[in-house]
Amino acid sequence: MLKFDFSALEKIPAGDGVRPEERQKYDRQLADYIKLFRSRGQGFLDALDDRTTLKAIKNFTAGVKGQYQDIVVLGIGGSALGAKCLGQALRKLYENNSFKPRLAVLDNIDPVMLAEFEHSVDFRHTLFLVITKSGSTAETLAQFLYFKSRVEARKLTWEKHFVLVTDPQKGLLRKLANETRGLPVFSVPENVGGRFSALTAVGLLPAALAGLNIEALLTGARKGREQSLKKKAADNPAWRLALSQYLLYKKDKKITVFWPYAQKLARLADWYGQLLAESIGKKVDRKGHRVEAGITPVSAMGVTDQHSQNQLYNEGPNDKLFLFLGITNRAADLLIPRDKNWHPKELAYLENLSINKLFLKEMEGTFGALLKQGRPSIKIVMDTLNAENLGQLMVLLEMSVAYLGELLGIDAYDQPGVELSKQLTRSMLKVRK
Ligand code: PA5
Repeated sequence: MLKFDFSALEKIPAGDGVRPEERQKYDRQLADYIKLFRSRGQGFLDALDDRTTLKAIKNFTAGVKGQYQDIVVLGIGGSALGAKCLGQALRKLYENNSFKPRLAVLDNIDPVMLAEFEHSVDFRHTLFLVITKSGSTAETLAQFLYFKSRVEARKLTWEKHFVLVTDPQKGLLRKLANETRGLPVFSVPENVGGRFSALTAVGLLPAALAGLNIEALLTGARKGREQSLKKKAADNPAWRLALSQYLLYKKDKKITVFWPYAQKLARLADWYGQLLAESIGKKVDRKGHRVEAGITPVSAMGVTDQHSQNQLYNEGPNDKLFLFLGITNRAADLLIPRDKNWHPKELAYLENLSINKLFLKEMEGTFGALLKQGRPSIKIVMDTLNAENLGQLMVLLEMSVAYLGELLGIDAYDQPGVELSKQLTRSMLKVRK
């Protein structure tokens, strides 16, 4: 069960919240916005029905079962954050060293990190997943070339230690796959961009190899799709979220703080942060007018950031929307015991208290304090953190970003700003030669 609660937006002064009458005009046009989204030809919702890829992933995973101790993603941005999020959310945070396979996502080229990583694994039992839609991202190709050479230096057959995930037709890696016998390759649908690709082979292959239930993930994702295409605004949380962000954006609240109360969802906040930032941060709108649109994503963690960022949120500029995420039933709960000898009366409220209850009350307290200060918040409640609920939430968040792009009149699917920095880096390296 996943529930979005928007009611707090109506309980604060109109200038800082969202009134039903402000929404109505847009809500009446929801069917048109759905059509507009459909007209963009984006494939991330259709990919959820791709049984062929699902079968290929399952067959591959079954075929290599027990062979690898370490599954390592080489990729960056949208080609890495989905796997990071799924791996953290659905596996144990702490494992003993014998738990295999481990999942690592190396989304950086810091040589210290790469060197330390290299010394932590045994290449004979390591499988690298080289994930790049374009097949030309310098960072990913640098990692690939480096680790390929290290695997070969150990006299191993490199094709048995690498899998490619890339465009079905274009790019350098597709060419390499076509030319190399025995090198496994999976495709990212041509009409699915990096940050919308978590539920394609990009995220599903590492997830499956790491032992996660990708069927359940997709079942939830399809539920999220159904909800996010509902034409009745009240039943469509993706739309409600996008419209709230849009109306608050017009009131100068251009920051969204994603605030899960679950340590395992830290990477979900990063995944959502990239989705929101790269999709919505645009210089020009679809008509070519300079708009410099954008919502700045901030990640917070409950309860940790109550003692870090919360002061700013309560008393600093009222320029943010808070997106709380709570989980009612956790896989584990602990009781705070009454100590035999030391039990001062000031601590009586903690005695025999469930830590989950404390956690939830902390969230309620933080949410309530922001409400009192007139700061807009939305609450998402998940009954359990599992693959199905996570898949559903990820699609709802993807669709909220798609709707937000349409409301703002910008193209949520390109990233010209990222391309520019890539070009400049390349030209500087050419100069060096
Ligand atoms: O969302 C995006 O499109 C980007 O973040 C890309 O995923 C990132 O730049 C990596 O690109 P590629 O998958 O082509 O290596």
